[in-house]
Amino acid sequence: MSDGESRGRKGRYRYGRKRRGLSAVNRLEELFRRAASIHRTEGLLPLTKRATAYAVRRLFRYETYYLYEGDSSTYKRFSDTDFVPKVDGLSFRVVHTNEEADELEAQGFQFGEHAGDARSKLNNGAIAFCVFVGHELANVGWLCTTQQAKDSLDEPPVRVDFSNGETWTGGFSTNPRYRRMGLHTYCILEMIEYWLQKGIVKSKWAVAKRNFAALTAESKIGSVIYGEGRLIKVLWWKSWKERPLPLQQE
Ligand SMILES: CC(C)(COP(=O)(O)OP(=O)(O)OC[C@H]1O[C@@H](n2cnc3c(N)ncnc32)[C@H](O)[C@@H]1OP(=O)(O)O)[C@@H](O)C(=O)NCCC(=O)NCCS
Repeated sequence: MSDGESRGRKGRYRYGRKRRGLSAVNRLEELFRRAASIHRTEGLLPLTKRATAYAVRRLFRYETYYLYEGDSSTYKRFSDTDFVPKVDGLSFRVVHTNEEADELEAQGFQFGEHAGDARSKLNNGAIAFCVFVGHELANVGWLCTTQQAKDSLDEPPVRVDFSNGETWTGGFSTNPRYRRMGLHTYCILEMIEYWLQKGIVKSKWAVAKRNFAALTAESKIGSVIYGEGRLIKVLWWKSWKERPLPLQQE
């Protein structure tokens, strides 16, 4: 998708991105910006809860995941589903660079509000798949074609063979105001169109086993589980184990 242009389900996309790291100061600024945004949109209590959860997560983390994969055969099955939620003012954009994000913002789209540290992710080569309602970002997900891009997302360290064309998908989030309206499903289906058009051979993603909403969404779409993983993090020490499971369609 070219710089801030829209397209239909079977439209064409364009390559292109830039990489540049963000400094610690930028990241801190981004954290404060995000905190201010949560405070403004959700209030003090949710901000306090999320800030505490974030701090605890930096110190200690134990999480188990289902690992999913999609390849050309699953893409084909998905791409037969032509689903567009009945939501007024819906539009879909793929954003490859901060320049494209700037162009969107110049057109009035509020790209930054719900996407967290989107600028940093874009700088690191992650590609944003955005669903807007009017000018408001309602759902976002990310595609990573390099390890650097994946590292810019807060994702488990699942093994992805980028050198053989595998990709990583993650960081999905629907703005709480727009949940259960089919936007996540829609974004995934649009992303799969992109995979098909770009000839992406395989994509992997992970969902925490305790994330009931996301697991239900995967199950509804019919995603394929290929393994499970376990992450333990204590301060800077980290342990990751993954093991294969017999392929099972959710
Ligand atoms: C998971 C998440 C992205 C789903 O977004 P969404 O736009 O509400 O999803 P959809 O409307 O496309 O829902 C698709 C299906 O998922 C399931 N689902 C979604 N949210 C659910 C919930 N809270 N409880 C139970 N099932 C849920 C339902 O089966 C739903 O279909 P239905 O509404 O027809 O029953 C959203 O809840 C979210 O942003 N959560 C926080 C971040 C997160 O967990 N991200 C995923 C990381 S892998």
